[in-house]
Formats: sequence, C-alpha cells, structure tokens
Amino acid sequence: MEITIPTEKLILGPVELSDLQNMYEIRTNSQVAKYINRDINKSLEDIRQFIETVRKNDFYFTIKTKECNKFIGTITLWNIDWSKKYAEIGYELLPRFQGKGLMSEAVKGILDYAFNEAGFQHIEAYTHHENIASRKLLEGIGFKLITDKVDSDNLDNLIYGINNTAHKTTSDH
Ligand SMILES: CC(C)(COP(=O)(O)OP(=O)(O)OC[C@H]1O[C@@H](n2cnc3c(N)ncnc32)[C@H](O)[C@@H]1OP(=O)(O)O)[C@@H](O)C(=O)NCCC(=O)NCCS
Repeated sequence: MEITIPTEKLILGPVELSDLQNMYEIRTNSQVAKYINRDINKSLEDIRQFIETVRKNDFYFTIKTKECNKFIGTITLWNIDWSKKYAEIGYELLPRFQGKGLMSEAVKGILDYAFNEAGFQHIEAYTHHENIASRKLLEGIGFKLITDKVDSDNLDNLIYGINNTAHKTTSDH
C-alpha cells in the first residue's frame, strides 16, 4: 500500500520501518492505551514485526503534520472483509496532540478514501464505552451506534458504524 491521503493540515501516509521509534513511542504509551486492549510491554523488535505485518495486511497510515512532517499518530482500516466491503477503523494520537480536532480531520480523510476510492461500503469502530473523546469524535462525523451487535471479545466496547451512503465527502461538509 503506497497511498498518501492529504487533508487540510495532515498527511496520512503508509507506515514505514523508518517510523519505528515513533511507533514504539505510541504503542507503548499507557495513556494512549487507556481504553485499548493492548499489551504495552513491547520491544523495538516487536514493533518492527508489527510494522511489517500491518504493511502487508491493512491500510495502516501514520498521521504527520503537513507543516513540519511531525509524527502525531496512526489511523488504520483493518479486519477487512472484501466480500462485504467491510473494514474496522482504529486510530490514536500521541497525548500532546489530542484535543485539537486533529483526529476528526484524519478520520474524515480516510473515510473519503475508503468510500470513494478503495470501494468499502461499511466501516465500523469498536470503542470503549468510557472513551468519551472517541465516542464524540465518531458521533460528530456521523457514525451511528449499532445496538443489535456486541463485541463478544470485549463487552466494554460499543460498536459504531457508517455506510458509504451516509458519508458526505469532506468537500460536501
Ligand atoms: C480518541 C482520540 C483519537 C480523539 O482524538 P482528538 O483529536 O483528541 O479528538 P478531537 O479533538 O477531534 O475531539 C473529539 C471530540 O471529543 C471531545 N473530547 C476530547 N477529549 C475529551 C475528553 N477527555 N472528555 C470529553 N470530551 C472530549 C472534543 O471536545 C470533541 O467533541 P466536539 O466534536 O463535540 O467538540 C484521542 O483522544 C486518542 O488518541 N486517544 C487515545 C487512543 C484511543 O483511545 N483511540 C481510540 C480507540 S477506539
């Protein structure tokens, strides 16, 4: 996957092995992992292998600022089922970049790409019910709570979904 998605202030680009240090920082940060089921006791080698795996299987992007190419987080479409044109979305920002509206911009950018170019029809987000920032983010973008489905792997999670028909491209907003 060598896709790059520019938004107003950000560049979503394919994760590279050169992002190893940044990826290590974000994936071992306990504040970032507060509402994510994730083992943060990882070595650099674990993270290197993770990068190789996601480069093969997922649409896994780093989020960098347009202004100075600074790594601020990641966003991914994963658990892909092409027969249903379905993917799950995951996202995270380093704590110092949270609360500035940046992830809303990144999610809108990846949805524009997912629905208008990659051919996905339905995207879901699994998020901890106490993760208010994540829930507000999703609701603000137009994701709807799916009430007839549960995450049997983690009953603390809520499931939100959006279809390509409900998504307005960024230029329509
Ligand atoms: C979830 C996360 C990506 C949100 O990104 P963000 O750029 O900080 O979010 P935004 O600044 O766009 O804020 C989204 C909304 O949540 C609100 N919000 C942000 N932090 C909040 C908090 N701690 N409590 C209450 N509301 C909060 C914002 O006011 C905004 O609401 P609005 O659109 O009504 O103004 C970010 O907090 C994060 O990386 N968290 C750690 C990783 C994580 O939990 N990922 C989600 C896994 S499902």
